[in-house]
Amino acid sequence: MELREWAIQILSADTLEGKLQDPGTWSDQTPGPALIWQEPVRPPGMHFSRRTRTEKLPPFQEHHDPYHRAVCLHRFAGHELLAVEIMAFALLAFPETPPTFRRGLAQTLREEQGHVRLYMKQMERLGVQFGDLPLYRHFWMHTPYIQSPMHYVSVMSLTFEMANLDFAPMYGKSFAHFGDGEAAELMATILKEEIGHVKFGWRWLKQFKPSSESEWDSWEQTLATTLLTPKRAKGFCLHEEPRKQAGIVQEWIEKLKVR
Ligand SMILES: [Fe+2]
Ligand SMILES: [Fe+2]
Repeated sequence: MELREWAIQILSADTLEGKLQDPGTWSDQTPGPALIWQEPVRPPGMHFSRRTRTEKLPPFQEHHDPYHRAVCLHRFAGHELLAVEIMAFALLAFPETPPTFRRGLAQTLREEQGHVRLYMKQMERLGVQFGDLPLYRHFWMHTPYIQSPMHYVSVMSLTFEMANLDFAPMYGKSFAHFGDGEAAELMATILKEEIGHVKFGWRWLKQFKPSSESEWDSWEQTLATTLLTPKRAKGFCLHEEPRKQAGIVQEWIEKLKVR
């Protein structure tokens, strides 16, 4: 299957199976003209909730309750599904990027599909089905600002996915604290793979940015043309180690700490 065809299938699927379908082998012979996808089709019951204010997640001290853990997992699964759709959006929006960038993006998309499945398995174990709770537009509302591959790596890899390098270990620790080893193990798997996704973004930020600019300055200036600020690239507690594993330089980490 061609990457373009796969991306269109993901964004126009009205079933979860369609969104999570992995063609196995794919080719990228005809990336086609740039296509800006406005709104993903969603399966019945999984449309973006109209609510503008996102509901707060259950606080850490309530994670002893399996339902509250399931609510967290449901929200994270929603984020993963959005990541799948945004990566499909980028495959369609940027047909002229280097083939190695598109290959890496497709591989990342496939891992995000895997993340959705992993979250579904754990939330189902805790009694919640994907789609039982509201799903939000969240990342998707940033797509009008993803106007170049540089915007893509800045917004997705180096902001949203980088923030997950803090959220995944924090939630994993909390789930482990309340004896849910399976959910904790899932968060460890997510963390490991998200480190790879941030690494991908870092590698391509270096390629896309002007050589005279530092990584931080290019990223900050790119974010300034979106709705985001550098603060969004971290949780309420910054974890240095996973950022180092992703290859992020110390100068960047120090700058992010004080934002
Ligand atoms: Fe993910
Ligand atoms: Fe990711």
